[in-house]
Amino acid sequence: MSIESDDDLKALQRVGKLVSGTIRTMLAALRPGITTRELDEVGREYFAPHGARYAPQLTYGFPGATCISVNHEAAHGIPGDRKVEPGDLVTVDVSLELNGYFADSGATKIVPPVRPDLGRLCEASYEILMRSLRELKGGSRLNQVGRTIENESRKRGYTVIRNLAGHGVGRSLHEEPYDLVNYRVPSDRRLARTGQVVAIETFISTGAEYVVEQPDGWTLKTPDQSYVAQFEHTVVITNSAPLVLTA
Ligand code: CO
Ligand code: CO
Repeated sequence: MSIESDDDLKALQRVGKLVSGTIRTMLAALRPGITTRELDEVGREYFAPHGARYAPQLTYGFPGATCISVNHEAAHGIPGDRKVEPGDLVTVDVSLELNGYFADSGATKIVPPVRPDLGRLCEASYEILMRSLRELKGGSRLNQVGRTIENESRKRGYTVIRNLAGHGVGRSLHEEPYDLVNYRVPSDRRLARTGQVVAIETFISTGAEYVVEQPDGWTLKTPDQSYVAQFEHTVVITNSAPLVLTA
């Protein structure tokens, strides 16, 4: 969507803040022995009293309030009986709807003790997201984001997952512009517009370039035991730095 009024902006800020608060609360509860279902419940208890609905279930029938992906899983992990273990790399992705507005955000955290190489992967994924956002402004190419993510990943010795992408968001979970991929697409000439609301997400990998759907019909996992760190923010494009709604 594009922001057309102050009410639009205020409503998006509200749902954005709820999404970031949910992620913060879940990551704070992350410890060895907690199951991903319990972690999901921590998230639900945080946002439910505000009247928000969880967007993946609302939109796609996803069996959980949040997506929790562990180690070689990159996205759409289903909360369940899996117990988090020391050293696990855990990605929490939260998208909510509140009063007809949607926001989407994600973050990856490692349960101590942190393996140094995985710690570096997480830091890189976050830094690359923030760097790619700096170049996103009204009139620039949307795919500049993908170009930056790909270049910065390569510089650090990582690959990007090519079959996961950012997207427009706001009036629904996934909307125009679709396919804001993590790599350069010379033919993608779409321009970013001031007021446009998009979710930018990095999928930085230690080797794999794509993920494969698992037999549960949801979980997307690397085929070769690569690790993936994801960070995602919902932002409003402006004439300078984007306004991050899920900070
Ligand atoms: Co997300
Ligand atoms: Co998203």
